[in-house]
Amino acid sequence: MMNIAVAQSGGPTCAINASLVGVFKEALKESQIDAIFGSVNGIEGIINNHLVDLKTLIRTNDDMELLRQTPSTVLGSCRYKLPEYKEDDTVYKKILKTLEQRQIGAFFYIGGNDSMDTVNKLSEYFRQECVDIKVIGIPKTIDNDLCITDHTPGFGSAAKYVAATMREIVRDSSVYSIPSVTIVEVMGRHAGWLTASSAVLHALGETAPHLIYVPERNFSLDAFLRDVRQEMAKHKAVIVAVSEGIEVPEGVQSGVVDNFGHKYLSGIGKYLEEAVRNEIGCKVRSIELNVMQRCSSHICSKTDIDEAEAIGSAGVSCALNDETGKVMVFRRVNEMPYTVVIETTNAANIANNEKFLPDDFITPSGNNISENALKYFLPLIQGELNIIMEQGLPKHFAIQESVLK
Ligand code: F6P
Repeated sequence: MMNIAVAQSGGPTCAINASLVGVFKEALKESQIDAIFGSVNGIEGIINNHLVDLKTLIRTNDDMELLRQTPSTVLGSCRYKLPEYKEDDTVYKKILKTLEQRQIGAFFYIGGNDSMDTVNKLSEYFRQECVDIKVIGIPKTIDNDLCITDHTPGFGSAAKYVAATMREIVRDSSVYSIPSVTIVEVMGRHAGWLTASSAVLHALGETAPHLIYVPERNFSLDAFLRDVRQEMAKHKAVIVAVSEGIEVPEGVQSGVVDNFGHKYLSGIGKYLEEAVRNEIGCKVRSIELNVMQRCSSHICSKTDIDEAEAIGSAGVSCALNDETGKVMVFRRVNEMPYTVVIETTNAANIANNEKFLPDDFITPSGNNISENALKYFLPLIQGELNIIMEQGLPKHFAIQESVLK
């Protein structure tokens, strides 16, 4: 018999709790697993011995269904970078102490490329110390920038929100007779996946977004203004999707960085709005989709939520198969009908690496997304959940603040 622990890390998504449910459900089925601990605020909970007993918090099938469709990280999150253990193993000893004290034989870390750095380092440390504790990574990120995997849980729901919102913006912005420009800023850090996914509207007969700017291409303000003018000649209401990660002059963004050295990106939409106002002088608005694109689970993708749960479950089987230092990944085996299988890769292949848009997803002009990309994006946004409501609003699963303190 052994206990297990699971934690969530990095930026929230709509699907990260579904992966937690996947781990939890699978562990309940396994007779060799006893307690299922949740670590509060990612790896910080293990370091500080702050664990909760998930079986006392998630009691029924209804709880699991509600948690599956609740956005964000029910156990809290962190952006904690482990040092190299060869340089400083203090924190590794604390982690080991908690895991041994709680008789934890497997640890599941749900997170993005930074969190897979933790999976990699921790599993290496255990190997070196001959400690038999399995460490398995379950991927997630709205940025979709993890290598090896076809896509990441959380991305499909974010993409569905971005495209649906963009379509609503198209309807709203086209009502007046005067020309206008609407600039929509989309998250995704240095990779343009989420911004590019707004192009699925083209498959639905929309001409918008008329311009799409991703970090994979150089950005020039002059070229942007020229593009906007050209589109204004064709369309009354020009809609632009712009990634938060495109290169902009110093001072547009706050310059603040997290523990992994990533800049907090935001502000490009406002910057471009001012440029259009000053240089073109038409009606212009910028919209920053901000955190809504990663927490709007009322319009999540069922495909995404179901896959997130499945990849969490597969993680448990992987640990019980005696594997460690692995990250679960999707491989797309068929386009039509869309089919994926779940496999594993070494955490080192994913940790701290980024995957960018393929060249053929971007038009030669560098300011839009090609048709080639649509068949990649469309299956990921399919399907709707039966959203559980209370008093006219989506109901959420929450753990009392006092339990998480
Ligand atoms: O990595 C996910 C992400 O949502 C990025 O798209 C965004 O740049 C970043 O997190 C925001 O960081 P934070 O959650 O710390 O505000």
